[in-house]
Formats: sequence, C-alpha cells, structure tokens
Amino acid sequence: MTDRYAVIGNPIHHTKSPLIHGMFAAATGQDIEYGAIEGPMDGFRAVVESFRDSGGRGMNVTAPFKLQACELADEASERAQLAGAANALKFDAGRTVADNFDGIGLVTDIQRSVKVAGKRVLLLGAGGAARGAVLPLLEQKPAVLTIVNRSLAKAGLLAEKLSSRGPVVSAGYADVSGDRFDIVINATSASLRGELPPLPAGVFGHDCLAYELVYGKGLTPFLRLAQNAGVKRLADGVGMLVEQAAEAFAWWRGVRPDTRAVIERLTVALK
Ligand code: ATR
Repeated sequence: MTDRYAVIGNPIHHTKSPLIHGMFAAATGQDIEYGAIEGPMDGFRAVVESFRDSGGRGMNVTAPFKLQACELADEASERAQLAGAANALKFDAGRTVADNFDGIGLVTDIQRSVKVAGKRVLLLGAGGAARGAVLPLLEQKPAVLTIVNRSLAKAGLLAEKLSSRGPVVSAGYADVSGDRFDIVINATSASLRGELPPLPAGVFGHDCLAYELVYGKGLTPFLRLAQNAGVKRLADGVGMLVEQAAEAFAWWRGVRPDTRAVIERLTVALK
C-alpha cells in the first residue's frame, strides 16, 4: 500500500514540498504519496489527528503551525524543544513524534560553500526561524555566534538558553557596527515584506557568505546590501528548503535522497 504524507500550512498554495518529495521518491524508488493541506487557523490539531488516524505516516509543517506542531506531539527531539517549533511529524503506532530539520538544512546548505567551524557567524533575528538555527550552528563549532535582534531582550533570552552549547552572544544591530563576520544569516521575516533589517553594511568581512533564509524572491534588500558592500557569495534559502526535506525523507523512509539535482531544478538566479 502506498504510504501517505502531506505538508500542512496556511496559506499553502505556494508550497514546493510535494514537488521536492515527489522527486526524492522517484529517485529512491519509494512508493509514497505526498499532498498539501491548508490547515484551518483554529483547527490544526483536528486535521493532523484525522490525517494520522486515516493512515497518514507523516507531515511537514509550515507557517503558522510550527509551534502548535511541537506542542501536540507525544515526543519531540531536543532541537525541536529548544526551537519550540517542529517542521516534521512522524506517526508511529498511534504516537506522534516531532522534529525540526530547518536548522540542519540551513547548516548543510551553508557548508556546501563554507565550513562553519572556526568562523565568526552573525545571525539576524530571534524569532522561530532563528531559534531553529542556533543549536545546529553551534554544533559546528563556530569561533563565535552573535545573535542580533531589534528587540534585544529576545536575542538575549535565546543566547542565554543555548550558552552552555557553545560561544553564543547577543547584541543590538548598532553594537556590531565595528565587527566583521565570515557568515551573515538573515533569519528575520523582514524580506517577506521587502524590508531591510537595520544592519550596518560594514559587518560583511572578506570572503563573507551572506545567506537569506527566504527563497525565490531574488535579491532581497538584505542580499542587495551585501552585494553593494562587495560580498560575492550570496545565497537564498532554496538549498535549506531542499536539505530539510531530505532530512525528513530520510527520517520517514530510512533512505537519504540526493539533493543536488532538486536544488538545481528549484534555484532561481539571484538578480
Ligand atoms: P519567524 O518565525 O519567521 O522567525 P517571528 O517569530 O515573528 O517569525 O520573528 C520575526 C523575526 O524577524 C523577529 O526576530 C523580528 O524582530 P523583533 O523580534 O525585534 O520584532 C524580526 N524582524 C521582522 N521584521 C524586521 C525588520 N524590518 N527589521 C529587523 N528585524 C525584523
């Protein structure tokens, strides 16, 4: 019997997950069906439970349900608990298990061009997207991970929560004006509205990688700032999207799909 999976979010029409998982399934010979469900804003749990009870094997979860997905699970991985959010669910003998592969997807994609070990990393934002990225980044042993956020208290709490796991500090945007970083990651939601975080342009060090979590929007204000500052390595989150999907696929199916061809197919030139 074909195993059923789905991505759930609201809105969901833009999702690339069925395409990505369809390509993974074809490449690995896995017999799965993968759909997209628009979850009702006030009935997320009921839709998940109904999908599970009708034989569904797993779900990807996207905005705005990642927090609720973590809460409803019987069991959640440490990284999902630390992020307070899950982007993947597995249904196993009536139990719901939650994980969060966003951060690993980000780190795997970054490391295709630059190793995080020993690097000075600047993370913009302290919301859900940033929270998922901190532990996987620290696990790669950067020289320092600086979290900046408009609301300083939020960045401070996040850094404090993970301070036992590596060299993580928090700061305001203006505080980093004299510093240089090797990797600058925009994990704010500013680009979704065409906004630019108040980032001093001097933070981009020599040979810096500027990484935008949002994907498919071309040169966002953040990437444009980096480009104007002379940064040559620019990336958006399409690689992260495919890599997190590959982690979920491997978790569900026990087979790790190759990601390169899928990333190439989905990449839109940054201009
Ligand atoms: P997500 O789950 O996408 O991270 P979120 O939890 O609402 O969404 O968090 C949004 C993040 O983007 C926050 O860190 C927010 O900063 P504040 O906490 O200071 O509000 C950040 N953000 C949104 N718009 C921004 C902007 N124009 N400039 C800088 N940061 C911005």
